[in-house]
Amino acid sequence: MENISCSIYVLFFLIALLLYYHSSLKKSKWTNLQKAKLPPGSMGWPYIGETLQLYSQDPSVLFANKQKRYGDIFKTHILGYPCVMLASPEAARFVLLTYAHLFKPTFPKSKERLIGPSALFFYQGNYHSRLRKVVQSSLAPEALRKLIPEIEDLAISALELWAEKNQTINTFRVMKKFSFEVGILALFGQLDAKYKEELNKNYSIVEKGYNSFPTNLPGTAYYKAMVARRKLNQILSEIISERKEKKTVEKDLLCHLLNFKDEKGKNLTEYQIADNVIGVLFAAQDTTASALTWILKYISDDQKLLETVKAEQRTIYESNGGKKPLTWAQTRNMSLTYRVILESLRMSSIISFTFREAVVDVEYDGYLIPKGWKVMPLFRNIHHNSEFFADPQNFDASRFEVAPKPNTYMPFGNGAHACPGNELAKLEMLILIHHLVTKFRFDNDIIFASKFITYIILSGKSKFPKEYNIAHSQYLSMDSLLGSGRKQEAKETPRKQMPPDKN
Ligand code: HEM
Ligand SMILES: *[C@@H]1O[C@H](CO)[C@@H](O)[C@H](O)[C@H]1NC(C)=O
Ligand SMILES: *[C@@H]1O[C@H](CO)[C@@H](O)[C@H](O)[C@H]1NC(C)=O
Ligand SMILES: *[C@@H]1O[C@H](CO)[C@@H](O)[C@H](O)[C@H]1NC(C)=O
Ligand SMILES: *[C@@H]1O[C@H](CO)[C@@H](O)[C@H](O)[C@H]1NC(C)=O
Repeated sequence: MENISCSIYVLFFLIALLLYYHSSLKKSKWTNLQKAKLPPGSMGWPYIGETLQLYSQDPSVLFANKQKRYGDIFKTHILGYPCVMLASPEAARFVLLTYAHLFKPTFPKSKERLIGPSALFFYQGNYHSRLRKVVQSSLAPEALRKLIPEIEDLAISALELWAEKNQTINTFRVMKKFSFEVGILALFGQLDAKYKEELNKNYSIVEKGYNSFPTNLPGTAYYKAMVARRKLNQILSEIISERKEKKTVEKDLLCHLLNFKDEKGKNLTEYQIADNVIGVLFAAQDTTASALTWILKYISDDQKLLETVKAEQRTIYESNGGKKPLTWAQTRNMSLTYRVILESLRMSSIISFTFREAVVDVEYDGYLIPKGWKVMPLFRNIHHNSEFFADPQNFDASRFEVAPKPNTYMPFGNGAHACPGNELAKLEMLILIHHLVTKFRFDNDIIFASKFITYIILSGKSKFPKEYNIAHSQYLSMDSLLGSGRKQEAKETPRKQMPPDKN
């Protein structure tokens, strides 16, 4: 039954795509350009291209097979666009860093409208680099150190809440709540619970519309999402005017955006601020939640690994007498846990690829990338290439005891648009892991694993007599940042009884 509804969904999606991109495709000239020296590869059927293959099998497998067949640079045709896929570190660097100005960010307009058309990641050039400086400065290590006690509070109260429930919970979902709270903290500092609630509720409606078919008919998910998006603007506008009245001197991202002036002394409009606030929240939430869920899977898969992570964290916990907040130095001194995070990000490659569009005809490595074509640096292929990472399917945190070869490790991207939130992401993951492994017990019980969905159950027991189970299930979204319609919710699973903990 599920399979049937799934293929109906795929079919619907394809038809929708066909209608949607039909006009844009007519204008594209890829058939004429095939006489030029394009990269090798197959373009699949007219119009549909290879979209069907993409949606009927694991994209990582599809891309990996193509790489085997055609080499590191190959062409294809997916989602209505001719594309050049790049699976070598040098090519990814060329597009994202050295010749970044020849390749602009590209998102479907419907998704841009939902997140906010003025959000920095849709831009190139001046507007982008100025805004990026603002975002970067409020997410830089100096700014983040001050947030440690608050992130710790969020981590502890989240863990206690899950534990109290004493029932099966969905890891990805709860991690999303945590990463949302941390995102709010970085954006607004301490924010009124009322606003948080309103933002959270309206934002989740926006999210539901993100991967739905973009039509503005009342009743559709996309329509509801657009309505909720406008409500988000209202809420932000209230927060901003309250902030201006109080004249508080916060050092959060909102404050930086409010104080922003370009070289002519012009400030940002409220819309521009709102779009960037929502944009950052969007970029921060699913990615971090996904990474945390994968990390929990990997460490609960391997009891020995878990013990070493626990040992490292327990030393720190005990040196704090189990009480004092973590210090910045301590978060920088979790080398083993840190390598586990790096290896989890490599293995899971949450953002498996990104998109850009050639703004002129570009020649790379003897191949032509025609103007208007999409280019896709394939992070996952690079992360899973045995030339750069020996035995790539094997989880081995110790491989990061030596630095990876240049440009081969890009969980946070590279170049002009590389993730400005990477330090915050790593910090909140370290803090959550610290409290999780020092106070909670893990079980490793994977009950089901597929290409896109992995369900795991973790159970824990605190040092206190209170007994509880935390069950985790999670999914990998192929590209949570870019969104592809390929999301699947994991089903809740029955709880597993745990034997009592010895301490
Ligand atoms: C483990 C968690 C995360 C991962 C794996 C991740 C990954 C990425 C990647 C790969 C990009 C570049 C996309 C591209 O080049 O097309 C990116 C961009 C971005 N990320 Fe993250 N990210 C994470 C967490 C965060 C957090 C916590 C924040 C903010 C608090 C954030 C904010 C952003 C922003 C604003 C951009 C766009 C930057 C620009 O266009 O200049 N990310 N992220
Ligand atoms: C969305 O925000 C508005 C405020 O603009 C609020 O009244 C409403 O309750 C929120 N929606 C939901 C579903 O919470
Ligand atoms: C930008 O400046 C104008 C004029 O000084 C002011 O009216 C407006 O409220 C400012 N915008 C924001 C978002 O602060
Ligand atoms: C870092 O950790 C090691 C042991 O793992 C410890 O000996 C050292 O004192 C720690 N350094 C700091 C700055 O906490
Ligand atoms: C948690 O659930 C188990 C199994 O249902 C039950 O035996 C136990 O008493 C519960 N613990 C708490 C603190 O509610």
